[in-house]
Amino acid sequence: MTAVLAIDQGTSGTKAMVVDGDDRVLSVAELPVRPRYLSGGGVEIDPHALLESVVDSGRRAVAGAGVPVGCVTLANQGETVLAWDPGTGRPLTPAIVWQDRRSAPICTRLAASADLVARRTGLVLDPYFSAPKMRWIREELTTEGIVTTSDTWLVHQLTGEFVTDAATASRSLLLNLDTATWDGELLELFGLAGEQLPRIAGCDEIVGETTAFGASTPVGGLVVDQQAALLAQRCLAPGEAKCTFGTGAFLLANLGERAARSTAGLAASVAWRARGGTAYCVDGQVPAAASAVRWLQDLGLLGSPDELDRVAAGDADGVLCVPALAGLSAPWWEPTASAALTGMTLSTSAGHVVRAVLDGIAAQVAELVDCVARDLHRPLPRLRVDGGLTRSRVLMQAVADLTGAEVDVYPSAHATALGAAAFARLAVAPRLSLADAIVGWAPAATFTPALDTGAAAEFRARWRSAVDAAVIQKEKE
Ligand code: G3P
Repeated sequence: MTAVLAIDQGTSGTKAMVVDGDDRVLSVAELPVRPRYLSGGGVEIDPHALLESVVDSGRRAVAGAGVPVGCVTLANQGETVLAWDPGTGRPLTPAIVWQDRRSAPICTRLAASADLVARRTGLVLDPYFSAPKMRWIREELTTEGIVTTSDTWLVHQLTGEFVTDAATASRSLLLNLDTATWDGELLELFGLAGEQLPRIAGCDEIVGETTAFGASTPVGGLVVDQQAALLAQRCLAPGEAKCTFGTGAFLLANLGERAARSTAGLAASVAWRARGGTAYCVDGQVPAAASAVRWLQDLGLLGSPDELDRVAAGDADGVLCVPALAGLSAPWWEPTASAALTGMTLSTSAGHVVRAVLDGIAAQVAELVDCVARDLHRPLPRLRVDGGLTRSRVLMQAVADLTGAEVDVYPSAHATALGAAAFARLAVAPRLSLADAIVGWAPAATFTPALDTGAAAEFRARWRSAVDAAVIQKEKE
């Protein structure tokens, strides 16, 4: 089978890979993208830098592989939006990143419709999702042009088409999850009626052609990055779950072909639409994971993420961290909550603080595992993990200790791009099944819970009290 170019356009960088039909990575090119963090919860990316990173990394990967590619695919950030001119393709605003919380007042204003929104979309009325940020752009930045998610703009730049995929559309708060169509009442609610809306494609469709990477090549297999990783991890059966530790950490569990809603405070959306069917998933988010590690670097407490395990102390010596540096998502949905760091004394070292941040991320993941277990009506004895932060053994052990689950580490650093490559293969090979599009894998490492269950429960209770305090603090402000 032909090789494909898979581009993982993430929050902190773009990774392009050429992958052959047996999932062998022939070349990788990676370019950083630098979000701007503004006071007041703003997180923006220059769209030109986004596009440049996609085109440059893609060209480098193609040149490095030295073989023709039969399809180009793009995995996207999901809920990042911008306004642009549909005539020229020119961006009219920065890309407003999923982490941006400036549309929180819009959600507060619409709170009376929160139940309707949840029933209709499976999501929570929160600035994390696309529509409140689209409305914010309309109120604060421009009424010109069109406003879409970043995938639609990037694909338009590459192909001239006006399209999104079913998984990305389901992260918008504008899609009826049951009918998989744009919802007029929700568009009205968000003040977005009359906006031009992209066609919703399946995740196994060819949507156009591009010459951006050399000879004219089909573009297809579009999907959200988290959903791509779900496929890479072969979470094909209901109940199978993975957590990707990227800029944020995202725990997704396959729900099968029923558009169920979470009753545990998670979001429900489309995992993928492919091969004539739609699979759904629930997800919970830690909005700042690698972002929290980068923050430690910015404070000078850490040189690079590779130093995490060397710098982190054996225990946090009483320091407790709620790493809500970009608010709290599932199951609290407190977008304007801020991070808390407590329990410090004159003997607290940088290593204690680093350790407390890692424990805080793990504790947040443990809450999400509990929520997934409630939605699935069964415990989650194993958790598949991938992403850059899985290189930290300290973090992975803390995840095992606090969730009580065996943690299986995906053997490649490229889960999202490999999942995207599988969708590209589905797009070019109509007879290929979902299960055959992705190869099986054995964990590179497994972390087994080693902390006494009483001690884990005691830590988690203390950590939850710190979350409650952070939320109460926010409510007083
Ligand atoms: O929902 C946002 C998420 O998909 C972004 O992923 O890899 O940029 O942390 P990442």
